[in-house]
Parts: sequence; structure tokens; C-alpha cells
Amino acid sequence: MGSPPPWPTDCWYAVGLSSQVGRQPLGHRFQGSDVVLMRDHGGRVLAFEGRCAHRGCSLAGGWSRDDRLVCPYHGWQYDAEGSCVRIPALRAEESIPRQARLRTFPTRERHGFIWLWVAGHQSSPVGEVQDIPELAGLTLRDGGDMAFTYGTHFTRTIENGIDPTHAAFVHGKSIGRVDPLADFSLERYPVTVEAGSLYGRMPIKVKKLTGLTRLLLRGDAANAFKEYRFLYPNVVVSIVHFGAVTLAALQAHVPDSDSATTVRVTNGRNFLIATPGLNRLFDRITLDTGLQISREDAAVITEQEPRQVSFRGSNEVLIESDRILVEYRRMMREHARI
Ligand code: FES
Ligand SMILES: [Fe+2]
Repeated sequence: MGSPPPWPTDCWYAVGLSSQVGRQPLGHRFQGSDVVLMRDHGGRVLAFEGRCAHRGCSLAGGWSRDDRLVCPYHGWQYDAEGSCVRIPALRAEESIPRQARLRTFPTRERHGFIWLWVAGHQSSPVGEVQDIPELAGLTLRDGGDMAFTYGTHFTRTIENGIDPTHAAFVHGKSIGRVDPLADFSLERYPVTVEAGSLYGRMPIKVKKLTGLTRLLLRGDAANAFKEYRFLYPNVVVSIVHFGAVTLAALQAHVPDSDSATTVRVTNGRNFLIATPGLNRLFDRITLDTGLQISREDAAVITEQEPRQVSFRGSNEVLIESDRILVEYRRMMREHARI
């Protein structure tokens, strides 16, 4: 008997960026395998396992024809349900073997992402992709969409995404430097736990800002705070407020394998939406800043041991400022059998 899958199952994973998925099949690593995403004529996203049932060719190199996924090696064609419906080399008296089929995933498209239902006991979806109330009043922009691959387990990248106390030490270049003797303690901040979702709000502790954030904040530090929302099992929404300005980064932490995670990010904001030129300039700045932040995080979190957070019997020492991480670990312990 194999061990149980090292991933939470029976839940919606955000896997792809809406902006990246078109009629042409797009391959992503996912949970140690490959998936292929493509749109049909109606714009609906189809998701297939990424290996051809014939002889294991990658379907990411294939194409779409009449809403069927075509393998690039011998041209087998798969319909939306994953059934092979055409084999060019099949003789007239032969019928298509019943095993000639691909696993498919139920999909949703929301919050700038493509979501796949990963079945454990429930082969069809139970429940819907969750709402993100903090996005009300924000406009999602795909101009700063990006992906960054970290050489570690997705539990580490997620914890990094909701970690409220590392910015001053890790993000000096991208966000802002601080006096290392400053007081970084956080007053007890509220963390709300709902079914499958976790929300915390805390002050921003960086004093001397660089780059993009300096333009926005202009010394308005008293009015600066951030919000984190975690949507089980793999989405983090990170929102910063500088006075009237709000910026959101929506992150899908996609487990490529048990040792690599691609974080796909889309952004929302409440300003510079409608001014052509300026909005694209700001998308560009968002993208550059996001990549810099990711590189800074990667340098630290790919060196954490163990690679995968242990939710049971860990001897890591968490403190009150880590409360949102404590709640994350509790939620994973309760929901995920990993
Ligand atoms: S491997 Fe896909 S058609 Fe042969
Ligand atoms: Fe970070």
C-alpha cells in the first residue's frame, strides 16, 4: 500500500492564472504530475492530466482542435471529458480502447485564477471557490501577473506569504530598511477563522521605505496596515493599506512537487485603474517589485528545514506575533491529512 497523498484533497486549488490560459494548451506541473489547461470555444477552461494515454507524450506540446486536445506525437484526440475520440492510426475494424482516456478536473475561474477540484473521497466538487470579501472596491489587473518557482514545499511558501514579521529583515531592498534595534513586536492582532479560510490584520512595521512603497506611503505610517487571508488549501491574499491607497497580491501557491512550488500572482488595487499609460506603468512597477520580493524570500525559505512544515509534533517555537501561523497550522492539522 502506498502512503496517503501528501496533499490536501477534496478541495479547490488555484493552479493557473486566468490571463495565461487560452485556446492553446498550457502545461503546469502540479502535485508531482502534469496538468494541461485550455479554453474551449465558449471560453470555458478544461483541465486534463498532462500525459497522453497512448505513450506518455506531454500534452502541453499539443494543440486544440474543435475543442479537443490533440497529442503532438500520434494525433490522438481527447474530448472535454478526457475520452479519446479519435486515433488517426486506428484500423477501420478496431475500436478505440476504453482505457484510452485522460483524467480531467472540474474547473472554476475566479479571482484571476483557474481552480481545479482535486478529488480524494469526493469525485465531484463539494462547495464552491470561496469569496474574498477584502477585494470589494478593488480592481483586478493582470498586467502585473507573474510566476516564481521556489525550491521548497508549498507549506513553507504559504507560511512565508502570511508571515507578518519578516519584512524588515528580508525585504530591505524591495520594501524598506529599518533600524535593526527597532521594536518589531506586534500588538495582539485579530485572526478570524472560518470554514476553510483564515483572516488576520496587523500594523505595518517598516519605517524607512524604498521604491514603490515610498511613493505611496509618504510618511503616512500611522495609517498603514496589512491584511492576510488564507484560503484553504493554497491561496494567500496579501493586502496593504497606505492611507487611502490599497494594493492586493493574490497568490496561488501551486505545489509542483513535494520539493518545488510555483507561486502565481495576480494583483488588485483601488487607484490608477483608468489612466492609460499610467496604469500600465504601475503594473510594470508591481511586477518588478513582486519579482524582487520573491527573490528575497526565496533566499531564506529555500534554506528552511524540514522542507515541509510538520503540522504534528513540530518542535518549532512560535510566539504571539506568529499567531496567524499558529492558526494556519491548526487549520491544516484539522483539514488536511498531511
Ligand atoms: S503518445 Fe500521444 S498520441 Fe502517441
Ligand atoms: Fe516576504
